[in-house]
Amino acid sequence: MAINIKKGLEQVLYDSAIEYALQAGQLLKERLGNKGKIQQKKNISDLVTEVDQLSEELLRGKIQEDYPDHWILSEEDCGQANAYEVFKNQDSGYGWIIDPIDGTTNFIHGIPHFSVSIGVVKAGKPVIGVVFNPITGELYAARKSFGAYLNGRPIRVGKESTLAEAVVATGFQASDFKSGSRVIQQMDKLAGKSRSIRIFGAASLDLCLVASGKITGFWHEGLNPWDTAAGVLILTEAGGQVTDQDGNPYCLFHDSLIASNGKIHDELMKTIKL
Ligand code: IPD
Ligand code: CA
Ligand code: CA
Repeated sequence: MAINIKKGLEQVLYDSAIEYALQAGQLLKERLGNKGKIQQKKNISDLVTEVDQLSEELLRGKIQEDYPDHWILSEEDCGQANAYEVFKNQDSGYGWIIDPIDGTTNFIHGIPHFSVSIGVVKAGKPVIGVVFNPITGELYAARKSFGAYLNGRPIRVGKESTLAEAVVATGFQASDFKSGSRVIQQMDKLAGKSRSIRIFGAASLDLCLVASGKITGFWHEGLNPWDTAAGVLILTEAGGQVTDQDGNPYCLFHDSLIASNGKIHDELMKTIKL
């Protein structure tokens, strides 16, 4: 693709990421009533549809055509097992990290809460993030140092300063939906201390909900870079904080993630510690 020098490369990448997310989102919307074959991956909570694969093909095709020298890490193509290998073997150039449908279980069940999530990283750090829910039309987008936006309007995290005022969200790893699992113990520790807890089922959108001040915190274990690459940039550009469970700055391969408006971060982190 010919780069518009005046615009700057990252602005061009930002525009492309938005265009690709809108196109893949349109596909998801059209195929909501026609999901095709649904396959089980690791267990009954871990599913993939024909539409996940088609969305990923569409996105990979666009990126390869427009940016043939950029690397791509995508969920259905790379799989969990070798994601880190793909990532660490890349050069310091630009890479695209894609979740073709974040919230596949919601998609399968017709729950209108799923997204296309596209992150662009440079030297391992997110520089562009786009998360699009094609059903509500909510397009969250951020560019490093240029702020975060929802449908073109700037967004900021909420002002709550205590857990008692905060609605927080979490989610299950496919392998962790069982009695007594860590997340269930953590929810138990939060009960009565936070205003309430939600499990929405699309981590990229959870991060955007914190970024736009609708909820105040989110934590999750066992996420992958395609769940978080876009959302963590949107969150930090909206003034939020994201760390691992010990308070270290979050990197895309950390096994735990705590995201918040910053003000309740320590309280949330200490409360869910097991
Ligand atoms: C899932 C969603 C969900 C989270 C799971 C993820 P997928 O992604 O983000 O909210 O709790 O751990 O695997 O499988 O729908 O792309
Ligand atoms: Ca996902
Ligand atoms: Ca997915």
